[in-house]
Amino acid sequence: MQMIEEIDPRLHVTDITKPFEFDLSRPLEIEVGCGKGQFLTREAKLNPNCDYLGIERMLDRVRLFSGKCKRGKIANAKILRLEALYTFHYLLPEHHARKVYVFFPDPWPKKKHHSHRLFGPLFLNALWKRLEIGGKLEFATDHKEYFETVLECFAGDNRFERVEAMPRPKEVWTEFETMFRSQGLPIYSAAWKSLPADDSPLEPLTIPPEAEPREGIERRI
Ligand SMILES: C[S@@+](CC[C@H](N)C(=O)[O-])C[C@H]1O[C@@H](n2cnc3c(N)ncnc32)[C@H](O)[C@@H]1O
Repeated sequence: MQMIEEIDPRLHVTDITKPFEFDLSRPLEIEVGCGKGQFLTREAKLNPNCDYLGIERMLDRVRLFSGKCKRGKIANAKILRLEALYTFHYLLPEHHARKVYVFFPDPWPKKKHHSHRLFGPLFLNALWKRLEIGGKLEFATDHKEYFETVLECFAGDNRFERVEAMPRPKEVWTEFETMFRSQGLPIYSAAWKSLPADDSPLEPLTIPPEAEPREGIERRI
């Protein structure tokens, strides 16, 4: 029997240039920006024969996710505190994930912040590389303009085909979905499956000069 203290869902990163080793004999599902883990920990508990990975950069949410796994004795869910695009680009196994969930990603509504959005050509390249062929991306948002932008983004990429989105009964709601629905906001959802395509290596990510780390901070006087 697994003791509750033995469950540590945090995936510890010792070298961010080395891809993680997953048990490739088991299916893998990933949630990007999984927050406190309401959705993913429930899925993991219901499906012990599948592995689940949450990617979340906020520490307090990572801790809450871990607490849910420990209390629920959920051994097949892991949480990684790292940036999602980087993780998809460099650290996940090729063509192994059968599903990727992105629920209520930050919409960055101001035009000057659109470059912070997750969905764009770089993420789609890395997503296609990590999904098994026929694997699915499930997406939901309350933000109509971002929803339409994401639809356009996938429509321009022939490595993906739009398919029916998963049903959204109350049991699968995330924390943000619960909040948005309680405010009467509409929820938009869509899904795509990946298709066979040219499988060339991903180009290295480049950092724009303004985002490069600097020695100290210059003060403007
Ligand atoms: C609006 S919240 C939604 C949380 C959860 N999906 C839900 O529906 O309740 C977006 C979450 O994504 C996380 N996030 C945003 N960008 C991320 C990134 N690039 N890498 C990892 N996590 C990210 C945020 O920290 C936040 O917890």
